Amino acid sequence: MNHINIGIIGLGTVGSGVLEIINKEKEKLFTETGIQVNIVKICDKDNSKLDSKFHSMFTSNWKEITESKEIDTVVELIGGNTVAYEVQKSALENSKFLITANKALLSEKGQELFALAKSKNVEIGFEASVGGAIPVIRSIKTGLVSNEFLSLYGILNGTTNFILTKMEEEDMDYFEALSLAQKLGFAEQDPTFDVEGIDAAHKLSLLCGLAFKQKVSIEDISIEGISKISKSEIKQAKSLGLRIKLLGIAKKTEQGLELRVSPIMIPLDHPLASVKFEMNTIYFETSYSGPSMLMGKGAGSLPTASAVIADILYYAERKINKNSALENNLFEKGKIASSKETEARFYIRLKTVDKPGVLGLITNILGKNYVSISSIRQNESLNEPVELIILTHKSKAGNVISSIDEIDKHKDIIKEKSIYLRLEDFN
Ligand code: HSE
Repeated sequence: MNHINIGIIGLGTVGSGVLEIINKEKEKLFTETGIQVNIVKICDKDNSKLDSKFHSMFTSNWKEITESKEIDTVVELIGGNTVAYEVQKSALENSKFLITANKALLSEKGQELFALAKSKNVEIGFEASVGGAIPVIRSIKTGLVSNEFLSLYGILNGTTNFILTKMEEEDMDYFEALSLAQKLGFAEQDPTFDVEGIDAAHKLSLLCGLAFKQKVSIEDISIEGISKISKSEIKQAKSLGLRIKLLGIAKKTEQGLELRVSPIMIPLDHPLASVKFEMNTIYFETSYSGPSMLMGKGAGSLPTASAVIADILYYAERKINKNSALENNLFEKGKIASSKETEARFYIRLKTVDKPGVLGLITNILGKNYVSISSIRQNESLNEPVELIILTHKSKAGNVISSIDEIDKHKDIIKEKSIYLRLEDFN
């Protein structure tokens, strides 16, 4: 009988989900794959979170797993880049297959870890590191193998998508929605990673290697989070037929790969706009597939555990059948487009005094910087400052940003720091 002996390290949100599903679905997993999954050891700081029926497997020393002769596959679910790094290295050095959901570590140290795996003739499964339950890694690696990726747009962070949805639909404020996401187990230990776009950038960097066959580190990505988004921006977007989403974007351009994680206004009728709460989505265009979209739960215990288990069995099958062609996750650096040179449409919100010449001054600065206005709106108001909303045609990001910096220097007319957001209409 085919079997795989695994050791699980880390019993947090995802680790406990993995235990729960394997325990419940053992028979089904065997019937579907012909492989028996045996949990040999489980490691965490203490066994307080562990059901007593697993206590005989418990250890607080992870080396008992990574160095065990009996274990074939190490499942690292600690997260972060300190202990988890030591664990992953030790597992690979001891020629174990490695399954992980650790996007931060693979994004930072992936080259070293994938090279180590290759030298030991083992593989690393990281389906759960991007898009939770969605089989996005496998889809890119095998389902789209004949294609060249042209663009990829992802809602890659459940916490921020949850916050933006709650702010729009339930008029919640930012902190209320964030603490609810944390309570539901979506957020990273440090929520800055979520709200400042770092988690999404880690995931985008992993996807870019696979999709564009190019090594991308998070330093190559322009990153902005959602902390500058207020309820007012969300309402303005709605009134313009738009919705704000935190998107991870990678696009092939003549200047190289354009890479960004930032809040973007998108048309309400675009499929990405309908993706709500903790759902994640990867929308892409490739040479042969045309536009396609994968959607599913991107965070949470059982959805993420479902992807970990899919990896345990996929790599068990490859190991058992002694698949000689190792998967290639090593890529070379390629050309990256400079963020200032990239072109986009922009939404600009200014708060100004209501006096003669204000509009003239603003439009003059934009015109001088080659930024063409596509619409401008000031609602009737007796109170100053008044809100001016400008939408631009496609313009160079650098020109828009320098215009806004110049406009904001006019402290006599600009009463609050201006806000700009990119607007993607997919045309
Ligand atoms: N904090 C992540 C999110 C969890 O909110 O999407 C899954 O990576």
